[in-house]
Amino acid sequence: MRSLLVIGNWKLNGNKNTITNLTIALVNAFYNISKCSVAIAPPVMYLDVVKRYLLNSHIQLCAQNVDIHLSGAFTGDISAEMLQDLNTRYALIGHSERRIHHKENDADIAKKFFILKKVGLIPILCIGENKKEYDSGYTQSVCINQIKAIIKLLGIEAFKNSVIAYEPIWAIGSGVSASPENVQLVHKSIRDYIASYDASIADNITIQYGGSVTPENVIQFFDQKDIDGVLVGAASLNANSFSMIVQTAEKHKKPYPD
Ligand code: 13P
Repeated sequence: MRSLLVIGNWKLNGNKNTITNLTIALVNAFYNISKCSVAIAPPVMYLDVVKRYLLNSHIQLCAQNVDIHLSGAFTGDISAEMLQDLNTRYALIGHSERRIHHKENDADIAKKFFILKKVGLIPILCIGENKKEYDSGYTQSVCINQIKAIIKLLGIEAFKNSVIAYEPIWAIGSGVSASPENVQLVHKSIRDYIASYDASIADNITIQYGGSVTPENVIQFFDQKDIDGVLVGAASLNANSFSMIVQTAEKHKKPYPD
């Protein structure tokens, strides 16, 4: 039975002061959250600052990236063990902003998936098509191919206790979200594909949607059977907006009985 997972991805925003204030506001706002799961992904250098305020809260820490190595001569990189050392629970991998700006490919992302599982963190595999692929009707094949790259290296078992975030690139930061009905179709095709390997893993995997999610539109996504949460960018930088999204998740009737 899947419950809703809401994650705020703060990307490259904020400073020590604004991040501390935002964290304190969220900890206060979410003191009574118990049904949905919540995580925040601050810029990596503030993970330790944020962590101190999360003690005894329901909010988990999420990293925005991880390196494929655990240690060594890899200047500027962050290891999964370092993230674990700070009690980080999740890590985003394959976000389109990293695929585009840092030229990360499916093979790199599969290695990141592997290292996170090895250390015991939960990978959030971000997938999704660009506008051209969307217009050409390739959405489902693009998403399936991004998932296949993981299965090829690690097998279907890797998706046990993992998360997939479907984020159409054209919907990110554009103010135009994908339609909840279309997202449902994509999520269903992802779940069906995973079920073709293992029905139980498919049933249990959390599949989030991300791309211009707001307090106003979020309920329509939660109303879809195969949308198990949201990955929120801009709206997670405002304590009121993010709280409204989390409160909507908390009150939602999910998990659905099958
Ligand atoms: P926005 O919510 O700003 O569109 O960003 C989505 C996203 O990229 C989350 O990872």
